[in-house]
Amino acid sequence: MSVPVDNEIRGKLALVTGASGGIGAACARDLWANGASLAITYNSNKASTDQLISDLQKDDSSRKISAHQCDVVNEADLKRLYAEVNQQHGQGADILVVNAGYGKRVSNILDIAIEEWDYTINVNLRSSFILTKLAVPHMQSRQWGRVIYISSIAAGGTSINGCHYSASKAGVQGLSKNLANKMGKSGITFNDVAPAMITETGMIRDEEALKGTPGDVKNIPVGRSGRPQEIANAVTMLARTGYMTGQSLLISGGLK
Ligand SMILES: NC(=O)c1ccc[n+]([C@@H]2O[C@H](COP(=O)([O-])OP(=O)(O)OC[C@H]3O[C@@H](n4cnc5c(N)ncnc54)[C@H](OP(=O)(O)O)[C@@H]3O)[C@@H](O)[C@H]2O)c1
Repeated sequence: MSVPVDNEIRGKLALVTGASGGIGAACARDLWANGASLAITYNSNKASTDQLISDLQKDDSSRKISAHQCDVVNEADLKRLYAEVNQQHGQGADILVVNAGYGKRVSNILDIAIEEWDYTINVNLRSSFILTKLAVPHMQSRQWGRVIYISSIAAGGTSINGCHYSASKAGVQGLSKNLANKMGKSGITFNDVAPAMITETGMIRDEEALKGTPGDVKNIPVGRSGRPQEIANAVTMLARTGYMTGQSLLISGGLK
């Protein structure tokens, strides 16, 4: 039996990790603008999520937003996060945006310490698995769910970063595509958005920071860097499009 068509996100609860950063904040704002309630996370930057909540609640104080401190490397923090979300919203997340991520710019494999490899895989890939595993039971019970991972152009090899970062993001794409296949009939979709050269973020402050790298704007076909809102547009579209699953959307200004 197939699940009914339902692409309404008004009244749904979206959990966005790393909403203290550039892309996560834009995703949270856009999902909120489209009627979702929010649970958002930060690791070190509480001030940023405080500001986000105060901005959003100026527009609409009737919907709930909760903020949660969480180091995604720490499994206990992730379990506590889901317990807090359940307690504060009376339900699990309907939409999960796995956005919190890390990438120290070390290009040459010979300079990448094993500790750096482990940490990058843990933040970007291991936490994506745990967050998804914790999210699935509620989504299964509703026969509705959207899991959207923020991967990277780096998954395909092009990167201002090293092989550790590329491998972590390629792993996320594999996780997403496998789950899309295995859980196709569950009402839960799994997709990833792969950004490239998004400025106004903690990772890339401005175009100056890209000079002399493969992401230099002179190498980008559209001739400029991307903005967090352009990633948020795709995330909201995926949340509203239940017929799309197992896809990877490259948002790169034409960069391959
Ligand atoms: N900017 C780009 O061009 C680009 C390109 C491809 C992919 N991405 C991906 O986009 C996502 C968002 O990055 P961004 O560009 O928006 O950079 P950002 O502004 O630096 O945001 C990174 C976010 O991840 C959180 N975070 C980092 N380590 C964490 C940890 N151990 N536990 C919990 N949260 C942690 C940060 O939290 P705190 O600040 O609170 O510590 C912050 O909210 C990442 O997955 C990144 O890999 C970005």
